[in-house]
Amino acid sequence: EKGGYPDFMLKEIHEQPRVIRDTLAGRLVGGRLQIDELDLSPEELNLIDRVCVIACGTSLHAGLVAKELIEGWARIPTEVEAASEFRYRNPIVTPSTLVVAVSQSGETADTLAAIRDARVKGARVFGITNVLGSPVARESDGVIYTKANKEIAVASTKSFLGQVTSLCLLALLLAQAKGKLRMNQIRMLFGELADTAEQVEWVLGREEAVREAAEACVGATSALFVGRGMGAAIAREGALKLKEISYLHAEAYPAGEMKHGPIALIDEGFPVIAVATRGPVYDKVVSNMQESRARGARVIAIATEGDEDIRAHADHVIYIPKVRDAFSAITASVPLQLLARRIAVLRGCDVDQPRNLAKSVTVE
Ligand code: M6R
Repeated sequence: EKGGYPDFMLKEIHEQPRVIRDTLAGRLVGGRLQIDELDLSPEELNLIDRVCVIACGTSLHAGLVAKELIEGWARIPTEVEAASEFRYRNPIVTPSTLVVAVSQSGETADTLAAIRDARVKGARVFGITNVLGSPVARESDGVIYTKANKEIAVASTKSFLGQVTSLCLLALLLAQAKGKLRMNQIRMLFGELADTAEQVEWVLGREEAVREAAEACVGATSALFVGRGMGAAIAREGALKLKEISYLHAEAYPAGEMKHGPIALIDEGFPVIAVATRGPVYDKVVSNMQESRARGARVIAIATEGDEDIRAHADHVIYIPKVRDAFSAITASVPLQLLARRIAVLRGCDVDQPRNLAKSVTVE
């Protein structure tokens, strides 16, 4: 059942290239992006003036990625909020707000309650879920199914990549409807998105660097994940993966916030995992790595293949292929999933069934 892998989590991590390919299959029709299931005309899509992404846990982190994409490409203001907060605070939602509910299981209690609340207020709700006919699918106006297939490990991996891929599609669709990107740009971005499947395969074939980094962290009591922009969202997901399966305390911070408090945590050997891929904020992240290292941190960098300079600022480097910043959440999340799993294995934890957690949270 585990297909020769020692645990479901590793099996599911390795399924991710397939998930990306299946999620994108059939979406570019005659040179235009098409998501028929959303059931909104281009005119209706064009009227959307605000997006609220609501979700929990890992799905919420996919939402953080979506904010970068939707604001960047479609230029629509986007908020991301935990469904458990959204549902209890009378949020401002109007008929021109698009609410995007992201849920692997499609049955998370808080996400469902938030959907109901948003619909009462007149919003259009799109669900992004992995489970056919699930409550989230049934109660949304339109749904995109992530093609992850059944996910067994409690820690979400392949469903996260399916969500991020789907949200990339949604962001491109909104940009197309709003006329914010030219069609040839959209086709080019779609092509690059499709290429991430192969790039993830590349990352999966190089676990050695992850192994070394994991060995360096295994005795720690706490770890800090940092990044900026897209990297900050990736850091949040990396920290969640680590804490949920290895029981090692992990926190994520936007790298620029280090000086405002978290840097006080750093002493000799403290692990700092930095998302330091080449992109608009690369230099800024590198200087945060230097500041951490100067205080004794053991820095692990997720960096772009070919970046030899980064070695001067990190104790361990895990390379990923060069991709546009917008797609870095797909490629950079994979080594963080592998890192969390490897640390959990070294610490003797049950990777697939972490204590105190359930695969779906149907009560609040
Ligand atoms: O099924 P959902 O996507 O709605 O679940 C949300 C969270 O419970 C889930 O992502 C949880 O955080 C995972 N254990 C993360 O790996």
